Amino acid sequence: MTVRPIVVVGVGIPATDGPVARLRQKAKKVNRFDRNLHHIVDDMIETMRAAPGVGLAAPQIGVPLQVAVIEVDEKLTVLVNPEVIKTEGEEELDEGCLSVPGYWGRITRAQLVVVKARDRFGKHIRVKGDGLFGQALQHETDHLNGKLYIDHDNVLKTLVRHRPERAREPAEAEASAAGVGPSEPAR
Ligand code: NI
Repeated sequence: MTVRPIVVVGVGIPATDGPVARLRQKAKKVNRFDRNLHHIVDDMIETMRAAPGVGLAAPQIGVPLQVAVIEVDEKLTVLVNPEVIKTEGEEELDEGCLSVPGYWGRITRAQLVVVKARDRFGKHIRVKGDGLFGQALQHETDHLNGKLYIDHDNVLKTLVRHRPERAREPAEAEASAAGVGPSEPAR
């Protein structure tokens, strides 16, 4: 397994070509559940854990396929060709993304979501989630549809640099240790 570089967007900087532009394009459906897919899935798990993050979509490592991995509360979920088939309720949440490093925004998400997908072996699965897991299900499915969380209505104007790149400054380290602001890892 290999940790792969994560494709990163510049906020407000449009890309017209290459992997950054492909973050905004719908990924292709997987129809072969072969060794190549398992290799991609294993690298994605490794990359997500190294980041660290709670989720990762294949386009974030430059692979334009509908594959996502999520790990919440030590439960690993692999989703191939996921589709949201049901949502319930609404809530406003803090959200970040490994492809938009250093920023957090406020977003409206469904409280509960049901996703149908395949697992890495091609078996049909249904996954239901709320809380952080439900949020990650929505975030990663969005990625595979070419949508970043900052592309949702009104999110851009809420963006804050909650975790600055220079996190070594003691005041910031103390603030995050004290649990000020959102503390979930990005996805
Ligand atoms: Ni993301």
